[in-house]
Amino acid sequence: MHPSPVRSRRVTTVFVLNGPNLNLLGGREPEVYGTATLADVEELCRQTAGELGLTVDFRQSNREGELVDWLQEAGAAVAAGTSIGAVLNPGAYSHTSIALPDAIEGARLPVVEVHISNVHRREPFRHHSYVSAVAAGVVVGFGVVGYQLAIRGLHQLHQPDGG
Ligand code: DQA
Repeated sequence: MHPSPVRSRRVTTVFVLNGPNLNLLGGREPEVYGTATLADVEELCRQTAGELGLTVDFRQSNREGELVDWLQEAGAAVAAGTSIGAVLNPGAYSHTSIALPDAIEGARLPVVEVHISNVHRREPFRHHSYVSAVAAGVVVGFGVVGYQLAIRGLHQLHQPDGG
């Protein structure tokens, strides 16, 4: 018997999706977000994913609708067996967007939410994230190392005994 095409396809990709203003990393409030650039974060993600045998699809957008499209695309990739899910730093949309959690739920996408800063030590409006309620896990306050932790966590959750 031939294995089904879905089953024989290898799961290789982790999406790393970044929301508004994260393109400014490195120069943006370095006392809050550190001095690493988004290119540095991408390199860190590629290294970490590589150690786990995964490749990274790394993106950033300042537009909510584009992030929705990408979450749907990532969900389809998970359904097709080609991705383990997404690491998502929704930036300020964490605190305002219903469309992002709706997309995550609608696409049945495993997501680990990342915030570079410890949002709970900051202004009250940053203490609530609509994304957290639909995230598999949340990493806050570890600087850009949080992306590394999130990839490892998502990989762990994907293991048969990972949950
Ligand atoms: C952030 C925290 C958000 O409150 C803020 O709007 C960002 C970055 C973080 O990574 O710490 O843009 O998501």
